[in-house]
Amino acid sequence: MTFYVTTPIFYVNSTPHIGHAYTTIAADVLARHHRQRGEDTFFLTGTDEHGSKIAQVAEAQGLEPREFVDRMAGVWRELPARVNATNDFFIRTTDPGHVAVVQDFVQRMYDAGDVYEGTYSGLYCLGCEAFYSDGELDDGRCPQHGTVPEHFEEKNYFFRLSSYQERLLALYDENPEFVLPRVRYNEARSFIEQGLDDISISRGSQRWGIPVPWDPGQVIYVWVDALINYVSALSYAAGDTDLRPRFWPHVRHLLAKDILKFHCVIWPALLLAAGYDVPRQLFVHGYLLIDDRKISKSVGNVIDPLDLVSVYGVDPVRFFLLRVTPFGQDGSATIGGLHERYERELGNELGNLLSRTTAMIARYRGGRLPAAAWASPLRPALDRLGPEVAGRLDRFDLSGALDEIWSVVRALNRHVEERKPWQLAKAAAHAEELDRTLYDLADGLRVVAVALAPFLPDTAPRVLSGLGQSGDVAWGGVAYGQTVPAAGIEPVAPLFPRIDSPATVG
Ligand code: MSP
Repeated sequence: MTFYVTTPIFYVNSTPHIGHAYTTIAADVLARHHRQRGEDTFFLTGTDEHGSKIAQVAEAQGLEPREFVDRMAGVWRELPARVNATNDFFIRTTDPGHVAVVQDFVQRMYDAGDVYEGTYSGLYCLGCEAFYSDGELDDGRCPQHGTVPEHFEEKNYFFRLSSYQERLLALYDENPEFVLPRVRYNEARSFIEQGLDDISISRGSQRWGIPVPWDPGQVIYVWVDALINYVSALSYAAGDTDLRPRFWPHVRHLLAKDILKFHCVIWPALLLAAGYDVPRQLFVHGYLLIDDRKISKSVGNVIDPLDLVSVYGVDPVRFFLLRVTPFGQDGSATIGGLHERYERELGNELGNLLSRTTAMIARYRGGRLPAAAWASPLRPALDRLGPEVAGRLDRFDLSGALDEIWSVVRALNRHVEERKPWQLAKAAAHAEELDRTLYDLADGLRVVAVALAPFLPDTAPRVLSGLGQSGDVAWGGVAYGQTVPAAGIEPVAPLFPRIDSPATVG
């Protein structure tokens, strides 16, 4: 099996915020999970560096575009690292390898007869880097940015998107899970059904972009340039080895609903025109709001995810973002909510369970955990967890996967209360029952740690080593009874120590 996952490539005119971290973390969970399943996995993220918006911001700062994007790419490169994302490559659209593939790609479209010259006259929103018709505006203003678009008229090259309507409809009809969730599939399909206009794919009035190969006086429209990153990165990410045959088209694109039309309508048509296969699947998630503010750079309320990470740690932030709202829907959250879940779920339900379990093994069994797998009542829930979580993640239901895992965490907590190991320890007659109870708690924690490893990559190995187990997180371990005998187990210090008061981040 082959699994290739992408995030959108982010504009470098602003700095990373928690909304970008959200998509990056989600993609990372999927990449880590598919690696656990032994699949051939590739995870791509990066930066979108061309276009007039970026050229303008550079100019406002008195910098050449190149100097500006080099500086900003350094800032963006830290985003995956700070949220512990394991991207296999970080693409910049100014990479020479990308530029070469973009030029080849549009040349193929041109050679296929899908590009023609025309005059564009219309309204353009710089924030979106997109054209709008009058009907798409709210009171003459951009629906996303609230700004008045500029009038724009020039010679451009156009792509015959209109001629792809039938092929796109067939693609959607043959593949009802091409776009998930269903509401986004319907939205994309209805765009196509309404009829598609040809789109301008070049700019004559700009310099900051990739030259059109057959007319170097024009540059390629930034969105066409950007979308091609998903293919171009594969051509040079591994040096001389072209990864395209290995990973294309086994790709799953993650994105939020703001850029649905570019990804779900325009991108497959561009690929067909250039002779590539369409992507395997696209998942469109919602917007996340924190403290009731839309955390998007265009609205100006920016929360730096790195601030939350430095207070709570990376794993709690990853956990919270994916747990707080069903993945796919819009959600709102508060920093107080993060604090509360940190204490209750991570601190008490998981951290405390490990501390108690290891303390009891240390105290009642001198730190020795014998192999004691038996026909435990916990076995069915632990054996079911692997297929259930994998099934959820196959449907991009990251929050549902966490729900499944957490129901096991809660079952383990109930198990301690019901079995009362501290009472069993009082009578030698209960020795076997005590062994079995301690084994089941340790095994349940081991299973939970392996299942949680993609979400909590730093915590999982701490749980496993606290229980005297290897750090192997292969997916086959998510089943009852694989805990091996161990000795020298000591009480594990709290995984999630108390933090005084909710952080204020602004
Ligand atoms: N450069 C384009 C994408 C080109 S991809 C070929 C772009 N960049 S962006 O910097 O504006 O990033 C938009 C993406 O950031 C969203 O689609 C989403 O993945 C992520 N998010 C930005 N704000 C977000 C929230 N508030 N909530 C959830 N996701 C957020 O568009």
